[in-house]
Amino acid sequence: MEQGILYGGDYNPEQWLKYPDILEKDIQYFKEARINTVTIGMFSWSTLEPKEGEYQFQWLEDRIEILYQNGISVILATPSGARPKWLADRYPEVLRVREDGLQYKFGGRHNHCYTSPLYRKKVREINRELAKRFGKHQGVILWHISNEYGGECHCENCQKAFQVWLENKYQTIEALNECWNTTFWSHTYHTFEQIESPSSVGENAIHGLSLDWKRFVTSQTTDFMKWEIDSLKLEGITQPVTTNMMYRYTGLDYKVMAKELDLVSWDSYPVWHKEKEDIWVAFDTAFQHDFMRSLKQKPFLLMESSPSSTNWQGVSKLRRPNVLKTSSLQAIAHGSNSVLYFQIRQSIGSSEKFHGAVIDHYGKQDTRIFQEVKQLGIDLRQLGAVQDSIVESKVALLYDIENQWAMEDAQGPRNKGLFYTETVMKSYQALRKQGVMVDIISQEDELNNYSLVIIPMLYLFQHKIEQKIEKFVKNGGTVIMTYHSGIVDTFDRCFLGGNPYHLISVFGVRRTEIDGLYDGEVNYLIDDKKKVRYECKHLCEVLKTTTAETLLVYEQEFYKNTPAVTKNRYGKGVAYYIGADVCEEFYDHFYEKIIKEIGISPIVEGEIPFGIEISERRTENTRYIFIQNFRNQTVSLKTLNLKGEWILGENKKEISAYDTYIICQNKKG
Ligand code: GLA
Ligand code: ZN
Repeated sequence: MEQGILYGGDYNPEQWLKYPDILEKDIQYFKEARINTVTIGMFSWSTLEPKEGEYQFQWLEDRIEILYQNGISVILATPSGARPKWLADRYPEVLRVREDGLQYKFGGRHNHCYTSPLYRKKVREINRELAKRFGKHQGVILWHISNEYGGECHCENCQKAFQVWLENKYQTIEALNECWNTTFWSHTYHTFEQIESPSSVGENAIHGLSLDWKRFVTSQTTDFMKWEIDSLKLEGITQPVTTNMMYRYTGLDYKVMAKELDLVSWDSYPVWHKEKEDIWVAFDTAFQHDFMRSLKQKPFLLMESSPSSTNWQGVSKLRRPNVLKTSSLQAIAHGSNSVLYFQIRQSIGSSEKFHGAVIDHYGKQDTRIFQEVKQLGIDLRQLGAVQDSIVESKVALLYDIENQWAMEDAQGPRNKGLFYTETVMKSYQALRKQGVMVDIISQEDELNNYSLVIIPMLYLFQHKIEQKIEKFVKNGGTVIMTYHSGIVDTFDRCFLGGNPYHLISVFGVRRTEIDGLYDGEVNYLIDDKKKVRYECKHLCEVLKTTTAETLLVYEQEFYKNTPAVTKNRYGKGVAYYIGADVCEEFYDHFYEKIIKEIGISPIVEGEIPFGIEISERRTENTRYIFIQNFRNQTVSLKTLNLKGEWILGENKKEISAYDTYIICQNKKG
């Protein structure tokens, strides 16, 4: 792609075909706002194929052509995210079935069966037609496969596919029974055909089944996506493919899906201005950007974002001036090569008519939003070179979706909430406050390239993670692992012989028990000189050290004065263990020390003021440093040592509310 940073978003000309003057004006507005890319076709199936087999693509071709002539590229979507009425009426098997057996009626979107041979056939037909027509068109730069894949279907076809998937995985029913521990409550199966998907009115006590069902849903959705991609490839498309992923979506393992895509893209809709300070929302969004980038370890696309408020959040609060700029540039700072909006032109009717848009119902450019969009368009033109840079990190944070599935399905040690993502975020925020970039990895990934690896609550071990951790520490790496780690295997069966599994000697510590605390209950972690005191809650492990040194102990309870945070030297490296759900302040202090000890250099020298996020993208010789203010007030930058050429903003000692500066540093020589 040669467009520079992609700028634009979702555009639905099919809703405006009766308004040629509006379609014409759109082109003029796009140029004015420096929009260079629009996404078309996402929900256009009924316009593209109004009757079965009758394709009407001329309007689409005309649009693509006109946009192309005006220097605007198209990301072309396959229409499978919502089907026409004729399709649902003629082939009811395409409609999804709920876990309790009820079949959905026609309506809404995203509610079709991914297994249905008929849905696949119809999708393949229209995708092939689209690919024939546009698969080599120079105006089309990328294929957008469907829209926000998600959900699950429990129809007969899906049940059968699940049974086949299980048979492929386990080969024999005896092996499956063994792995799922089905002798418990007499749930032994005799044939694969007997197995049904988990259900609130059926089987929901076999954790191995629930976990495999979730894996199957990912596998089946990915298979459907591949089916779509292959339909396009059959016609020899020349463009890359992506699909848009969602914020903290736990229904799918995106790691698996990402393998089939040329690039990762996602839809970001942060809830700004709900809390007193927006920096926490900024960190939360940054984490998600880093997660998406890390899926393929390369730049991603911000596929959707609202230029103003959304219409589906509890309250549609307007974004304060400049938030559009800074939230969009935050995506770039973390590795995006695009800023794309949903939506370009606000629809007249139906459920998204009040969603924020670049062009609203008023229809002209003299709106606050349009002007902010335009200004950012102008700024992005200056930043084209940034797209050749990448994010590099020496620090990895392991966040694993299969682990989350298993942990949250288990009963105990705290059914009122385990706080997995919150625990992950405590480490992430503390690291970002230190001004280091972070990769978000899964247990499939290699650890070798990092200096510091953080492993919060890794309940389920697979992909030989225990061996990778041991090797990593032995060779000189530093690892930090928390409570509730190394408990079960890939089938959700408990390890025998002590936890964390295989790593007792690496950490020099063994977990003996885990205490669940009621809401509101707290304990404290203290050091032997009583100099520090950190609150902890929810979960406290009782530990027994073998070779580890104790850094902090519990203050209260029958386990008072026993180890809570430990440090162990193993081989050439160091392994820290955090035994309790301890407060943010602890993490802040802890990482400040560790980053210094390991010698990881922060992006800029000096203390980062509260509310400021600092990020970096780089090439071999150039560093782009992003300084972003997520406070609704001016912040002094005097504590920071900022050097280099200012490519956005000015060399000031302060930064105003929600503004962004970008500095470029070049290696001399
Ligand atoms: C999602 C969808 C879009 C639109 C937006 C609204 O991300 O992909 O089609 O509905 O939400 O925020
Ligand atoms: Zn189905």
